Amino acid sequence: MSKVTVVGAGNVGATCANVLVTCQIADEVVLLDIKEGVSEGKAMDIMQTANILGLQTRLIGVTNDYEKTADSDVVVITSGIPRKPGMTREELIGVNAGIVKSVTENVLKYSPNAVILCVSNPMDTMTYLIHKTTGLPKNRIIGMGGALDSARFKYFLSNALGANAVEVEGIVIGGHGDTTMIPLTRYAAYRGVPASNYLSEEELGKVAADTMVGGATLTKLLGTSAWYAPGAASAQVVGAVLHNQKKLISCSALLDGEYGESDLCIGVPCIIGKNGIEKIVEFELNDAEKELFHKSAEAVHKTNAALAGAL
Ligand code: NAI
Ligand code: 2OP
Repeated sequence: MSKVTVVGAGNVGATCANVLVTCQIADEVVLLDIKEGVSEGKAMDIMQTANILGLQTRLIGVTNDYEKTADSDVVVITSGIPRKPGMTREELIGVNAGIVKSVTENVLKYSPNAVILCVSNPMDTMTYLIHKTTGLPKNRIIGMGGALDSARFKYFLSNALGANAVEVEGIVIGGHGDTTMIPLTRYAAYRGVPASNYLSEEELGKVAADTMVGGATLTKLLGTSAWYAPGAASAQVVGAVLHNQKKLISCSALLDGEYGESDLCIGVPCIIGKNGIEKIVEFELNDAEKELFHKSAEAVHKTNAALAGAL
């Protein structure tokens, strides 16, 4: 029996729960929100697809009732405010730090062995906050950002190549921010062949630039931040843990010397399995990529400094 709790039944949390149910990734899912009735309503709506789609996963919605989340294998934290057009993810820090800290304390009371997946923004800093305030083993705290950014990278890459999205490879590392993420164009590939064999430097540069502002583009179009791909990317990481898939996914992990950085959470290629982050994979970066990663880490450290009051 696998059990997942999703905290926050807003756009991203409810979409994540919907994918967990529709793709039958978990046996049991609890959707929790502080707003009376919202999670119950969304869970009921999703479960009314069970007969139509032939689903076995059970989903319940609860209002702030952490007892019902007991013994979860994975807890996904999406509670917090999203950005509005023109806002950066970093501007959310004040409100979201308090929410993430109290939610984490509550979930760990009932699921002390859970793997925690942090989605709330600014995600790298919120993931770091969870490390600092819980002291859990570092493998058990994962930040979701690179899974989404890499999916966006592959979307723009497949469009530029005129290829099927599942036939392209690409990974984004670094911070989950418009100026801090690093789409590794040198490693982008189409069926194992470097994408640079098909696309000019300018074309690959545009793919990278579109990826970096991918979230902001959607926020402008939608009036709030995106949810379908963020929810699905979160469910993808949950599935890799529950099913011990050992998938290589870019996730925000606590670094201790890897990539030459320490004492921060930032996106790096990780092997995700039943223990959470089972390994950080160190790709060979050239000097330019190393410099970008170092600059990205500096920016994340700067955002982390704003946590001082919350720690
Ligand atoms: P939303 O506003 O639709 O949903 C947030 C939900 O959290 C609301 O239903 C609210 O009632 C709930 N909430 C607030 N405080 C709570 C508490 N103390 N306990 C339980 N629930 C609480 O926002 P949305 O679009 O779902 O985004 C959620 C977060 O995820 C935002 O911080 C957003 O920036 C972030 N995000 C992160 C992404 C990533 O890749 N890491 C991608 C997309 C969004
Ligand atoms: C996104 O990338 C804002 O993190 C959110 O859509």
